[in-house]
Amino acid sequence: MEVELEIIESIAEAQSYVDGKQIGLVPTLGGLHKGHQSLIEQANKENDVTVLSIFLNPMQFRQPQFLAYPSDFEQDKIVAHQTNVDMIFHPSVDEIFPNMKNFAKFQADEFKQRDSFVIEAQNNGIDNVVRVPANLVYHLDGKLHPWVFDGAATIVYKLFEILSPHRAYFGEKDIQQLAILKTMAKLYFPEIGVVAVPTLRDNDGLAFSSRNSLLSKPQRDAALKVHHALRHGEQLIKSGESDYNLVLDTIKALIAEEKSVKIDHLEILSDQDVILYIAFFVDGIRLIDSFVLTHTN
Ligand code: PAF
Repeated sequence: MEVELEIIESIAEAQSYVDGKQIGLVPTLGGLHKGHQSLIEQANKENDVTVLSIFLNPMQFRQPQFLAYPSDFEQDKIVAHQTNVDMIFHPSVDEIFPNMKNFAKFQADEFKQRDSFVIEAQNNGIDNVVRVPANLVYHLDGKLHPWVFDGAATIVYKLFEILSPHRAYFGEKDIQQLAILKTMAKLYFPEIGVVAVPTLRDNDGLAFSSRNSLLSKPQRDAALKVHHALRHGEQLIKSGESDYNLVLDTIKALIAEEKSVKIDHLEILSDQDVILYIAFFVDGIRLIDSFVLTHTN
């Protein structure tokens, strides 16, 4: 059945659209791919109305990466239509952050008081930002750039306020973001269910990511090499290897054969689940991947 796709840019109109409806929200930065489609399909199954937000959030990127992000709104509309999205919320930067002119300053302001979530008032409360607590942010990628997660938490907080969804869907690939958003939702939006959707992979195993479209064939092959190295590490752990340093060294040695790849962060987390996580650059294009080895819940 053909579904009418609405596109809404203003907060006020979005609020009146969602009023009284049971909403499944899929927040995105645009650049839709099959991974997003799987989030949308799950939202369609579990809710009356699916809202897709497309907002390239300047708070989460340095300026060059912001400008290079592979967004194509016309193409995203086609994907949204094909996957039966009911409404796209596509606000401008001014609509979301009306007075915030200097995102670099927010990123440079290393925030010290991170004992708990903080809603930091900016511009007389109009552009409030969320700071993520130290115990959640200073791991993995957040050690180097905690503001990326402050930025993601801020926009999701605003989307939750504006759209009051029943459930919101996020990919498991961004494992740290997921943990942060789950905790934030429990605290400020206990009525909203945060749903984790398993990482979707292409036939060759590479996790779907908007940035894959930036990769040439040799660069994609290099990214695949990283995927295979990680898989190898996964197999070692599954077959009983408990010396994680040895596993990490083996993965590093396999990746070192690929000259275009630079590891940004490689870690095995073993708090509850065992999580193998990597962030890496292929000729400057940043990708992440992770494997969750055991689910305890
Ligand atoms: O994972 C993403 O695509 C983004 O970080 C999110 C959650 C849409 C916030 O901008």
